[in-house]
Amino acid sequence: MSSLLEKIPIIRDKALQAIGSAETAPDLEKIRVEFLGTKGRLPELTRQVGTLPAEMRPAAGQAANKALKEVKEAFLNAQTVLNRAKSQKSALDVTLPGRRPTLGHQHLISRTMSEICRIFEKLGFTVVEGPEVETDYYNFEALNFPADHPSRDMQESLFVGDKLLLRTHTSPVQIRTMEKQSPPVWVVAPGKTYRRDDDITHSPMFHQVEGLVVDKGITMTDLKGILSAFATAFFSPDTAIRLRPSFFPFTEPSAEVDIACVLCGGRGCRLCKGSGWLELLGSGMVDPALYNFVGYDPREISGFAFGLGVDRAAMLKYGLSNIRHLYEGDLRFLEQF
Ligand code: DAH
Repeated sequence: MSSLLEKIPIIRDKALQAIGSAETAPDLEKIRVEFLGTKGRLPELTRQVGTLPAEMRPAAGQAANKALKEVKEAFLNAQTVLNRAKSQKSALDVTLPGRRPTLGHQHLISRTMSEICRIFEKLGFTVVEGPEVETDYYNFEALNFPADHPSRDMQESLFVGDKLLLRTHTSPVQIRTMEKQSPPVWVVAPGKTYRRDDDITHSPMFHQVEGLVVDKGITMTDLKGILSAFATAFFSPDTAIRLRPSFFPFTEPSAEVDIACVLCGGRGCRLCKGSGWLELLGSGMVDPALYNFVGYDPREISGFAFGLGVDRAAMLKYGLSNIRHLYEGDLRFLEQF
């Protein structure tokens, strides 16, 4: 029966050696079952202790318990080491695909505004800017608005002080530009504009691009040619335009410019209310009254001007039905462009 006392260290050593060489968790588990499982070799030795003569049991029992304890400890250590190696490996897995940083992009309005300016730059225009808080003089008076014009009313315009308001259009930049430079003038002025207006096609803050040409021998044909070139470049190469008589205090004659409906191409549909045309911008020949304010001589030069609603142009081009989508900052909408 002394053989049990000899067997214990042999099996213990075998177990320790196997644990030491286990490279994976499944290997280690197999070893655990073989040596430490309910029917494993070490519990089996412990059971055999009970069959020994009484005087031999204490020594054999002690040896068996000690071996069991040593092997259990070795097993737990090996398990910890393998787990740590596994988690370090996944933390440093250089084969995983990287995370792409999300890139922002220009807002649809900024993009449309640059696009419009770029088209006019190619036609020989220069981009200029003016202030958003404007005086009554530049916003109305020097643009030939009569003193009792309705847009001078607090109900229509957003005043920030006495004779100081958020500009209602980009047209004041016409006056500021002519004050600063002498003809020839070929400029476009993009920017924010403000009015007391708020519904699905009007926002209290919106955007315009103003155009002004003052040069020798400018006629209405130049106006139509330039705006037609713009419409074909901005919408599509076959976009037709038409001029409709209109009125603005700062142009004479004045014309509303329509484009052939972007949806039906002119046949008539719900968008163009059956007319085949969509209103795009206001324009006209610069009223000579304006030249008096800036010291130009109307006998030497003539000019045309236009004012284009950027939000409206973007809505037509991209088929948007509600202007508010542009200003709610909802990425689900903005990311489509
Ligand atoms: N300022 C006008 C508006 O906001 C638009 C406009 C019409 C501008 C005719 C012009 C123009 O330069 O000639 O409604």
